[in-house]
Amino acid sequence: MSTKTATLTYDNKSVEFPVHGGSIGPDVIDIQALYGESGAFTYDPGFTSTASCESAITYIDGDEGVLLYRGYPIEQLAKDGDFLETCYLLLYGELPTKAQKEDFDHRVTYHTMLHEQMMRFFTGFRRDAHPMAIMVGVVGALSAFYHDSTDISDPHQRMVASLRMIAKMPTIAAMAYKYSIGQPFVYPRNDLGYASNFLHMCFAVPAEEYKVSKTFAKAMDRIFILHADHEQNASTSTVRLAGSSGANPFACIAAGIACLWGPAHGGANEAALNMLDEIGTVDNIPEYVRRAKDRDDPFRLMGFGHRVYKSYDPRAKIMQETCHEVLDELGIKDDPLLEVAMELERIALEDEYFVEKRLYPNVDFYSGITLKALGFPTTMFTVLFSLARTVGWIAQWKEMIEDPRQKIGRPRQLYVGETERNYVPLSQR
Ligand code: SDX
Repeated sequence: MSTKTATLTYDNKSVEFPVHGGSIGPDVIDIQALYGESGAFTYDPGFTSTASCESAITYIDGDEGVLLYRGYPIEQLAKDGDFLETCYLLLYGELPTKAQKEDFDHRVTYHTMLHEQMMRFFTGFRRDAHPMAIMVGVVGALSAFYHDSTDISDPHQRMVASLRMIAKMPTIAAMAYKYSIGQPFVYPRNDLGYASNFLHMCFAVPAEEYKVSKTFAKAMDRIFILHADHEQNASTSTVRLAGSSGANPFACIAAGIACLWGPAHGGANEAALNMLDEIGTVDNIPEYVRRAKDRDDPFRLMGFGHRVYKSYDPRAKIMQETCHEVLDELGIKDDPLLEVAMELERIALEDEYFVEKRLYPNVDFYSGITLKALGFPTTMFTVLFSLARTVGWIAQWKEMIEDPRQKIGRPRQLYVGETERNYVPLSQR
């Protein structure tokens, strides 16, 4: 353990704090004793300089555009692996052997069906309900059906709940989609791989055989890998905070889905495609770039910028390649949205505003074009993000629950409200 320290001088008193170093990345100044020693809190809205936990799962270097899952570069996992292998890696810390992979795939496959009564939840929603509203509701309700995997103190129940979440999210997501278009639900099939099974549940109809395109299945699987985990982002921090109270894993994942929905986070892929649609043609780009730079205009380039990446998001590069593969498979040579996206990226990356603020395309910039080409409506984009991110949320939740130092998260505040004053009876107001 590091012997480095940091000293803070406050109110004519110096307080020394231990500094901890990780395997890679910035050191942390351990300020747990600050309030007891100084009577003051730290102040860090948005947690721009705060490490909320110790984790061994995912590492991001925002300056270098590096993303590692358990030490493996995202580029290698996306190129040579598959999503369930990545799930195993994120959950257990090592790539599975052949036997471990076969066993894990089998266990996930045999948890894909949903309790039949859960179908009634869907019919309670309006057909035009946003699928993310359905995901929050139905995932939160899982704890009402799977009581035998809600005791978080039991490692076996934690493992079963983890597998159920990973296995059932595609089924629930596909049902949310089918419900929104008025088509019958399609049951999962045990003879299909994870991504193929999901595409089949989304696009098959009882009236005829549906053959899943290998290119589409590979693209879908790779998109899941890219979105699987991302350190302590807003939705993962939400899951950790919910889990820190001892809430069951299904409720914690529902909280993560709710947070991911926001356009500043996972909702950006839907917002980015809507933005490209609104821009419409390359000629309109300069006006939108002007608006994005105008501090008085709330408009931002959706799919651009990132709290951590101050260089190109490595996922965006892979997503762009995947986008071209899917469009090529479809024989789409000049997709107008892709044309606008690539010209917007070119202009933005040359513009001093974006260069100075180090704003680059993030994972959400190209994902929307790819998902639209795969046949999904924009309202399903964040649902697909939540499907993929479930394994990251579960892995981070598991890491927290298994940490013997774990305690409930309870931040403090800088109070700027009224000081104490006496009640005035209504007759005197
Ligand atoms: C995800 O955290 C994660 O890891 C998230 C994620 C994951 O995998 O979990 O990577 C997924 O959420 C990706 C991000 C998707 N969101 C968007 O694409 C929405 C558009 N981006 C912005 O809202 C913004 O960039 C954020 C929210 C992503 C990051 O915001 P920060 O870190 O709080 O940065 P900021 O808002 O303080 O911006 C810094 C400056 C500001 O200008 P000034 O006030 O300093 O003058 O850059 C400007 C911002 O106005 N800016 C943008 C911009 N993003 C930031 N200006 C125009 N367009 C943009 N997109």
